[in-house]
Amino acid sequence: MAQFWKPGTEKPRLLDDEEGGVLFLSSSLSSSASGYGYASFEKQRQRLPVYKYRTAILYLVESHATTIVVGETGSGKTTQIPQYLKEAGWADGGRVIACTQPRRLAVQAVASRVAEEMGVKLGEEVGYTIRFEDISNPDVTRIKFLTDGVLLREMMDDPLLTKYSVIMVDEAHERSISTDILLGLLKKIQKRRPELRLIISSATIEAKSISNFFQSSKRRRVAEDEELRSRLEPAILSVEGRGFNVQIHYMEDPVQDYVQAAVSTVLLIHDQEPAGDILVFLTGQDDIDVAIKLLTEEARSNGKNSSGMIILPLYSGLSHAEQDLVFSPTPKGKRKVVISTNIAETSLTLEGIVYVVDSGFSKQRFYNPISDIENLVVAPISKASARQRAGRAGRVRPGKCYRLYTEEYFVNEMSVQGIPEIQRSNLVSCVIQLKALGIDNILGFDWPASPSPESMIRALEVLYSLGVLDDDAKLTSPVGFQVAEIPLEPMISKMILASNELGCSEEIITIAAVLSIQSIWFSGWGAQKELDEAKLRFAAAEGDHVTFLNIYKGFLQSGKSSKWCHKNFINYHAMLVRKAVTAGFFANACRLEAFSHGGMYKTIRGSQEVYIHPSSVLFRVNPKCVIYHSLVSTDRQYMRNVISMDPSWLTEVAPNFYQQQQQQQQLRNPIIH
Ligand code: CDP
Ligand code: MG
Repeated sequence: MAQFWKPGTEKPRLLDDEEGGVLFLSSSLSSSASGYGYASFEKQRQRLPVYKYRTAILYLVESHATTIVVGETGSGKTTQIPQYLKEAGWADGGRVIACTQPRRLAVQAVASRVAEEMGVKLGEEVGYTIRFEDISNPDVTRIKFLTDGVLLREMMDDPLLTKYSVIMVDEAHERSISTDILLGLLKKIQKRRPELRLIISSATIEAKSISNFFQSSKRRRVAEDEELRSRLEPAILSVEGRGFNVQIHYMEDPVQDYVQAAVSTVLLIHDQEPAGDILVFLTGQDDIDVAIKLLTEEARSNGKNSSGMIILPLYSGLSHAEQDLVFSPTPKGKRKVVISTNIAETSLTLEGIVYVVDSGFSKQRFYNPISDIENLVVAPISKASARQRAGRAGRVRPGKCYRLYTEEYFVNEMSVQGIPEIQRSNLVSCVIQLKALGIDNILGFDWPASPSPESMIRALEVLYSLGVLDDDAKLTSPVGFQVAEIPLEPMISKMILASNELGCSEEIITIAAVLSIQSIWFSGWGAQKELDEAKLRFAAAEGDHVTFLNIYKGFLQSGKSSKWCHKNFINYHAMLVRKAVTAGFFANACRLEAFSHGGMYKTIRGSQEVYIHPSSVLFRVNPKCVIYHSLVSTDRQYMRNVISMDPSWLTEVAPNFYQQQQQQQQLRNPIIH
């Protein structure tokens, strides 16, 4: 290893390091990874660094509108703070504590962990909502994890988010586009709801700029009275723990192929270093799959020294079973090698990691407003990210981080911080969401980081050309409002609405549903050949869109069998097409009220009388609940393009909306005994 690697000269730093990295700080968890599994949940909770700050956090939340909590990954911010709030009564009286995450996989993982710690069934007291999957119950859920995108959607039905007492915006340092929009809107909501509490948590001191954002001089001027002013000032709390050093090693020379370099490094570590799990940071499913294949082959040909490795991928889109493998403790005498996207950088904590291999890259979104092309490209990470990644090695004992780049590159070429996503994205979805929330002056919106005027103008142009915005840049009626209501990209929503006129809604909805999920194919690592064969079976000359239709037909013919999906490498969960349609058009749901006149329905939204159009295949079939695409009025209101649905999906895909409508309906039509 000596000729290959050069030891680094970085020194351990403290939390308030001027460059913004939080490194070499680790929690005071028991120093043996295996000891972790035996302690009761209560003991484990008390050992987390955040536990010492429990009273301080609760005091700050009580006395400040906004509290910013900075603390290293794994210190207990996400799993503990919502529980402290609940214990302190913030969920009493039917109120709900929300905790947002930029990533779906993180939402699922932390929600199930918190439910487990509290000894409750997931979906009851503790629940979660991600797009197309709602494991929560509005009547009993008191701690709700959700993606920041889903919380933005909830604002369409409840602009002031009235059911939440505390909203914790987690992983704020990531500066995802939805997080930034959310922060801007929450700042507005706070003015109307002084009792609402915000917690913004972050793994790095990037929090400073967020604190400045919530502390604008205007707010200070407005608040004359001392007490009010101090309540409006954001409080900042740093969670610190005793740390384990992480030794940094750099490459002597730049590497040509980081996947191959990562594989060689893992083999070297496994060969020469004592026990301890390895975490490798690559960029996406494609290079992770290649690395796993190479590593498995090379380990096999290397002989007995390389046995004992458990090689696992980690990226969003994994099945629950695959996720469980990654989080379960490493069996004695084995070494876990987790090959991950940057999801393991701060969103998820893996116990037992002692060695980190950092490729220096991640997949990032880049948008060029001039060419209107948005690319997801493999791009160099920032110093702040490199420090986060290294920090993953020091959780349980002193660790080592192998950077697959030179020290010179790190010092002189890596940028200090990443660029907020909003400054490198296509803003079409973002603009339409703000418009739908009644924010008309988009250019004047109070952003944590302003997007470029070019991107803004480009987005307005696109929406105008889609017919979503009118000459005054207001949402058009009904198209603009319909497109905004569908939780899909505006282009896809528009495609669905247009298909209605072209008479191909059935097909387009299937295609739209497939386009709106990550992949219809099951992650095929280890079975690439079989996956390719399966793809060939469905391939259509016209391209992917028609291929999706073939797959869906096959799925229907199989009687929607999960076995069929498994055999054909198709993601069964992705095939809930009708449910996806429900998610898009929940506002167009209708219930059968009477059989008179060939079936009279009432819209759940407004109790309007509607009928199935005679052109529909469901005319005279009269399912109990249906969703329509559009209404045409002749002698009466007819629903065109109707699809039957299960009423329980409504509460699942649009809990707020549905509940609210029910209440309103009850007010309008009181039951008279
Ligand atoms: O949010 P933060 O990074 O500060 O920490 P956390 O996610 O609340 O994690 C606190 C502890 O819970 C860590 O020791 C994790 O290993 C553990 N945890 C877990 O075992 N399984 C999960 N799904 C989530 C957290
Ligand atoms: Mg966290």
